[in-house]
Amino acid sequence: MTFIPTALLVTGGAGFIGSNFIHSFIDNNPECMIINLDCLTYAGNLKNLTALEGNPKYRFVKGDIGDATLVARLLADHRIDAVVHFAAESHVDRSITGPEIFVRTNVLGTQILLEESRKYWQSGVVADFRYLQISTDEVYGSLGDTGYFTEETPLAANSPYSASKAGADLLVRAYHETFGMPTLNTRCSNNYGPYHFPEKLIPLLIHNVINKQPLPVYGDGLNIRDWLHVRDHAMAIETVLKNANPGSIYNIGGNNEWKNIDIVNLVCDLLDARLGRPVGESRALITFVKDRPGHDRRYAIDASRLKADLGWSPAYTFEQGIAETIDWYLANQDWTAEVASGAYREYYQNQYGGGVA
Ligand code: NAD
Ligand code: TYD
Repeated sequence: MTFIPTALLVTGGAGFIGSNFIHSFIDNNPECMIINLDCLTYAGNLKNLTALEGNPKYRFVKGDIGDATLVARLLADHRIDAVVHFAAESHVDRSITGPEIFVRTNVLGTQILLEESRKYWQSGVVADFRYLQISTDEVYGSLGDTGYFTEETPLAANSPYSASKAGADLLVRAYHETFGMPTLNTRCSNNYGPYHFPEKLIPLLIHNVINKQPLPVYGDGLNIRDWLHVRDHAMAIETVLKNANPGSIYNIGGNNEWKNIDIVNLVCDLLDARLGRPVGESRALITFVKDRPGHDRRYAIDASRLKADLGWSPAYTFEQGIAETIDWYLANQDWTAEVASGAYREYYQNQYGGGVA
């Protein structure tokens, strides 16, 4: 039977995927209240959500998922019937230079959110409840030249980031197995689209091509990622939240594998055409740099369970999605410039005076 949430607690909704999810979910479910709990790390940007200011069905709360008292209060005050948990440290390179915050946020933060959700769910305030953990294909480790990750692939995380996400996924499983909590777990491939922080490959490339800066390619550039438009991810999450059986795990992917170097060349060529630059000019910015330690070679998702059980498949072709994404970044260069300069950090202070809502 379809589960129709009436009040969502979204964590990490000021980040890339969380903000796209909120826009998409509010468009599709205007009656549902959304509470966005985000502590605004460097990756949190309220500019991603300006269109929702004044919307009575949306509320931003500055706070940490590790603050048990705050989480308990939000769940009870808003009679939340679904938690959609995006909040995380999300960048592999940062997890290599500073892993501790990844364990604190992604593992311990998730456990605190789970525990408060369990107590609230068991109190019986709402008739039905879901906890949805947003995870990544990176928990499965790395593939060779062939094969795909299925939901049965053993977890074999290789970076501190993916290890922390795998730890969180196992806690979610444990809360379902031990307490019977109605949890859901999705594992998605690499996303691209608007509001993507320009430390990640695609927005970094777009920003650097526009500004004629070097384009760093790690190692030989032959690592493979499976790219999915963030709005397709948002629709997949909504589909799972409403229709999946508690305890389920679903892979989400675009069936869209690209070698990094091919993505780099494509972004260069699409931007050269739009910026009126000579063919091939931006490819000259490509700079091969030292490889990322432990760099996973290939990710590829088998999302057939999600299609077979719940009927989801991506709406975007990659051709359309990457073209729209590039056009979005060209039309929103002030967004990227503010992120690059750090000016977006002042927005919250000016807008909200820095207090907890
Ligand atoms: P992001 O880094 O853009 O955003 C993370 C958000 O979480 C930020 O707004 C940040 O302020 C917030 N946050 C961090 N720590 C917090 C805390 N302790 N309390 C409250 N808020 C906190 O990340 P993203 O790329 O949007 O990823 C969102 C989720 O999706 C993550 O769980 C990530 O592991 C997962 N995921 C990402 C991808 C991808 O391609 N980006 C793919 C699959 C899964
Ligand atoms: P990234 O966007 O960091 O996502 P993830 O590591 O989670 O897959 O990187 C995507 C791929 O691009 C990955 O193989 C690493 C590579 N990469 C570069 O070659 N250069 C860069 O500057 C970045 C950020 C990533």
